Amino acid sequence: MHNNPHIIIEKGVEYHLGTLHGDTIQYDFQKMLIYLNHKGKLLFGKNFKIYEEDEVILFKLCIYLIKDHEYCAKFNIDPNKGILLSGPVGCGKTSLMKLLHHIVPHQKPYEVIPARNITFSFNNQGYKTIEEYGNTNYYCFDDLGVETTGRHFGKDCNVMGEIILSRYDLYLKNKTKTHATTNLNAQELEDRYGNRVRSRMRQLFNLIAFEEKSADKRK
Ligand SMILES: Nc1ncnc2c1ncn2[C@@H]1O[C@H](COP(=O)(O)OP(=O)(O)OP(=O)(O)O)[C@@H](O)[C@H]1O
Ligand SMILES: [Mg+2]
Repeated sequence: MHNNPHIIIEKGVEYHLGTLHGDTIQYDFQKMLIYLNHKGKLLFGKNFKIYEEDEVILFKLCIYLIKDHEYCAKFNIDPNKGILLSGPVGCGKTSLMKLLHHIVPHQKPYEVIPARNITFSFNNQGYKTIEEYGNTNYYCFDDLGVETTGRHFGKDCNVMGEIILSRYDLYLKNKTKTHATTNLNAQELEDRYGNRVRSRMRQLFNLIAFEEKSADKRK
């Protein structure tokens, strides 16, 4: 089905993200940007565009997803780990995580789920919610750190912290991927989840960070 995963067809239009050389694809970043610009408009509306100041972030996400080993090494990105995309409010983290997977339709997808929804579900269902994420599906936990502490039958639980601990075990066992987006920096994540979780997050994720001064695209 994906004999030519570098050729993507959207509404009858073919996008070539690169060229095939033997059995390896030579991806072309500029062509990937053309496709991402188009797909972004389809997903998020006509105001979506590729911001020049985001191109470094986009480049890192692209080389990670296509597993370009040379560039990954250069940027200290481990293709086996997940991505933690951090940055200020409204810079475009959630949109990028939803968009970028489309450049690699042949790869196992990840589901983008707000961390808040997971704690709400914990408040209703209790520990069953934590177990639900203990599988080999791939997830992107969106907006990690803004969720409230879980509370089920009067018992408090650091729900996302627990889920990250179990996702870390799955990563060690099966290279199961977990991604996340967050507004918090490393210190704030540690304050929020404690150093046990923080230490595992360093193993679980490659950090890709927007600059602190990145503009809020909602404005
Ligand atoms: N490249 C873009 N071009 C135009 N609009 C964009 C772009 N990226 C994001 N937006 C818009 O900006 C708003 C914020 O984007 P998004 O939700 O992805 O940011 P975020 O970093 O996840 O924010 P938060 O920190 O609040 O979760 C959305 O309305 C989105 O549609
Ligand atoms: Mg977001």
